[in-house]
Amino acid sequence: MRAPPWPVTALLLALAARGAAASVPTYPWRDAETGEWLVCDQCPPGTFVQRPCGRDSPTTCGACPPRHYTQFWNYLERCRYCNVICGEREEEARPCGATHNRACRCRSGFFEHAGFCLEHASCPPGAGVAAPGTPSQNTQCQPCPPGTFSTSSSSSERCQPHRNCTALGLAVNVPGSPFHDALCTNCTSFQLGLLEPGARGTEECEHAVVDFVAFQDISLKRLQRLQQALVDPGTQRPPPPLREGRAALQRRLWQQLMELREARPGALGVRLLQALRAARLPGLERSIREHFLPAQ
Ligand SMILES: *[C@@H]1O[C@H](CO)[C@@H](O)[C@H](O)[C@H]1NC(C)=O
Ligand SMILES: *[C@@H]1O[C@H](CO)[C@@H](O)[C@H](O)[C@H]1NC(C)=O
Repeated sequence: MRAPPWPVTALLLALAARGAAASVPTYPWRDAETGEWLVCDQCPPGTFVQRPCGRDSPTTCGACPPRHYTQFWNYLERCRYCNVICGEREEEARPCGATHNRACRCRSGFFEHAGFCLEHASCPPGAGVAAPGTPSQNTQCQPCPPGTFSTSSSSSERCQPHRNCTALGLAVNVPGSPFHDALCTNCTSFQLGLLEPGARGTEECEHAVVDFVAFQDISLKRLQRLQQALVDPGTQRPPPPLREGRAALQRRLWQQLMELREARPGALGVRLLQALRAARLPGLERSIREHFLPAQ
């Protein structure tokens, strides 16, 4: 908007002084025919100046056509085009209207940061969502507090409380950790005989041993050694991914032990002891014996 020449400024000031009653804003306009400076009314939001005022006629305002808008009182010759286009990660927050441009916001699952829509982060296993992400804020994670766990990487799951084995009338086989639930069993008097050649335990007790071994709270390195020692030399398995997470490794180990149990009935105990020795894990072997030794 260029400043009008000084006589017009003077006129405008005079008019402003004369009546605050005139709440409609005005603008200076030079009549093309007479060359005379006039003071025309502006047009309200949603309209534009279709025809400026004349000596004896007021300003004619026209409604903005579709996909166009004016947000303020104006003396524009045409409405502005709604030029905001929502991006791939955005959705329309407010459609284009006669008085405003289109507005966009980040789609669900994304939040706005420095003008970009970024995906809400997932909380890794062992951590849960403390506050879900919003259109303006990323997901807030917290390490699972004692008594709770989260097994998955998720942007929505909170930490879940551990199963209460006692309340279920069962014994705790593996205490819960931030990464997995408590594992209960009703295997009470385990036959240590299972660890001798040819002996089979009950299904429940075999499951209990598998859970107990797979979810031991031992170092990742030891878990890997045990997992490798359990690979049947006769079978070709793909080598484990180099940087496999603990949770994934434990699931794989669990799977391996269950397969072993299915494939060769009665061989679980013996095979397990062999593997524990090959992996040089005497401590784990001892705790298995202690844990499952029937009360004398
Ligand atoms: C588990 O349940 C038992 C019996 O219902 C209760 O006494 C105990 O406090 C519970 N433990 C936890 C950790 O909630
Ligand atoms: C132990 O649980 C299994 C199922 O998980 C069930 O079939 C079995 O009867 C239970 N045994 C006892 C003694 O409760």
